[in-house]
Amino acid sequence: MTKQYRITLLPGDGIGPEILGVAVDVLQLVGKQCDIEFTFEKALVGGAAIDATGEPLPQETLDRCRQSDAVLLAAIGGYKWDNLPRHQRPETGLLGLRAGLNLFANLRPATILPQLIDASSLKREIVEGVDIMVVRELTGGIYFGQPKGIFETETGEVRGVNTMAYTVQEIDRIAKVGFETAQKRQGRLCSVDKANVLDVSQLWRDRVTAMAENYPNVELTHLYVDNAAMQLVRAPKQFDTIVTGNLFGDILSDAAAMLTGSIGMLPSASLSADGPGVYEPVHGSAPDIAGQDKANPLAQVLSAAMMLRYGLNEPESASKIEEAVTKVLDAGYRTGDIMSEGMKAVGCSGMGEALLSVLS
Ligand code: IPM
Ligand code: MG
Repeated sequence: MTKQYRITLLPGDGIGPEILGVAVDVLQLVGKQCDIEFTFEKALVGGAAIDATGEPLPQETLDRCRQSDAVLLAAIGGYKWDNLPRHQRPETGLLGLRAGLNLFANLRPATILPQLIDASSLKREIVEGVDIMVVRELTGGIYFGQPKGIFETETGEVRGVNTMAYTVQEIDRIAKVGFETAQKRQGRLCSVDKANVLDVSQLWRDRVTAMAENYPNVELTHLYVDNAAMQLVRAPKQFDTIVTGNLFGDILSDAAAMLTGSIGMLPSASLSADGPGVYEPVHGSAPDIAGQDKANPLAQVLSAAMMLRYGLNEPESASKIEEAVTKVLDAGYRTGDIMSEGMKAVGCSGMGEALLSVLS
């Protein structure tokens, strides 16, 4: 029987529409091969939504996302919208999507591909074999804590305030994702906090430590975030799964991504407890190369694979897509960001064609 899924597409800004187009072509072909029928519906988010409606996340977009089985997002933002007030910034749309769909768990893999090892800025022996999953809490912490804002005090001083706060329930649910993710990988979980200074981190550490009893086959360690940053660039192979809060995860996942030297290759998944997840590349909207057929669509394509694996429980078609990516790299196809000597230079659409041809 043909399986049917409704996918909301959020092309967003910059290179978004180009790379998403490639992912849709790939999904359609793999769907045919695996007896899956996708219904794709586009919606506006980010700068594109600001231009059309005045706000970065129209209610209609959120409603459409809620009614779908999964959301495939490309990228948002661009110089054009950088100076708007915060409530009208593209980033606010992204944060609204995370909050609105309750996407508390963000999975960001950083895997070094053997074909691209020389793209890393670190020595080969340090990064060879790196395979890290950062599990970042995404709907709490300092990004959303109250009070927040810029206030005038009674003495007329102006103060900017954000609050890092986590409830036990918020810590427990992300810790659980961390342990379960580690269980499916190499069984090592490193929880990152700043418990030597922050009370909220002390609570975090206590809860994660207590939860370890339920996962006797997972080896739990703790690191302070500053040390974790240092260890990531010193000896990244010590890490398997990292679980951490929103801000620390934002920073560490960028550092982990850079170990691979090819941020244009990295996908991510943002998951809720019951509703649809959002799958998107780790990289941004690259407005400087938008519309020039130069973008690397592979992170978007791999995000579609994560959607199949984590969101739709279709591991077979997910693997097909991941294998196709390996094959085009083995065949030497490279977009500008991952180009090296002797390889075949292609644009975004050329990479898409290469994928379709190894798939058919
Ligand atoms: C990310 C980004 C976002 C974040 C921005 C664009 C709001 O840096 O997804 O990591 O800070 O979470
Ligand atoms: Mg970030």
